Amino acid sequence: MSAPDFFEVSYAINPWMEPARWRPDDAALRRQAHTGWDALRACYEGLGAVVETMPPATGLPDMVFTANAAVVVDRRVLLARFRHPERQGEEAHGRVLFERLQARGLVDSVHALPPGVCLEGAGDVVVDAQRGICWMGHGPRSDLGARAALQELARRPVLALELVDPRFYHLDTCLCLLSGGELLAVPQAFSAQGWRQLQDIAGTQLVEVPQDDALQLAANAVCIGRDVVMGYCSAELRERLAERGYRACVVPLDAFRRAGGGARCLTLTLGAA
Ligand code: ARG
Repeated sequence: MSAPDFFEVSYAINPWMEPARWRPDDAALRRQAHTGWDALRACYEGLGAVVETMPPATGLPDMVFTANAAVVVDRRVLLARFRHPERQGEEAHGRVLFERLQARGLVDSVHALPPGVCLEGAGDVVVDAQRGICWMGHGPRSDLGARAALQELARRPVLALELVDPRFYHLDTCLCLLSGGELLAVPQAFSAQGWRQLQDIAGTQLVEVPQDDALQLAANAVCIGRDVVMGYCSAELRERLAERGYRACVVPLDAFRRAGGGARCLTLTLGAA
């Protein structure tokens, strides 16, 4: 995780971001962001997770969304390349961080993407260990051309899902893997072909996220054991989760939603989870 010291909405690279609506409430929203981030960290630690942090940097407000820094599969790190110039300054910080984690023995190797292709880290990759595959979202941010590099790093097939709704611009805004193999998914985010592929492969383990929740970025969640940490959960979604044996842990992340992010975006999983 990376603390929200410099977090704000000062540019718009997705439909959630409205700098003109952030500015008048800047001070209160910054406080809210800190409260939410502290609560998220405390929630993870309460569930037994160990949290490493990446120092935030001025001028890089979205660096708080560490999911985008890289994707880590079996302790192998593939560093991100960002689509938008606003975030490209994060890449050098990501490299330094992962080299440090490697020196500390927390990851085994650090890899770069081939030139010219974008892949925004775990924001567009769901590592599905039980099925022995990775799901990769492409379109708004990540290029289909990054698939081969991901497949090589991950040493398992990568299934590409085209993202067609600009509100769900990263895969982790519309697909969340739970610990038992269920996939929470937002149907309208995917192309017809992608949705069919999810249905074919996940079958009854595909759980549709209600519209209300989708629009609060509830699918941007982190599952630890039977707990699903998220910024929002309607009664209906809570029930769908409970039926399958999961508890929703709701943390107040509204300030981050104004940048298009939730619990998952604020978190990069390094090891098993
Ligand atoms: N404002 C950020 C962006 O548009 C939000 C990133 C959210 N991260 C994620 N993994 N979905 O890039």
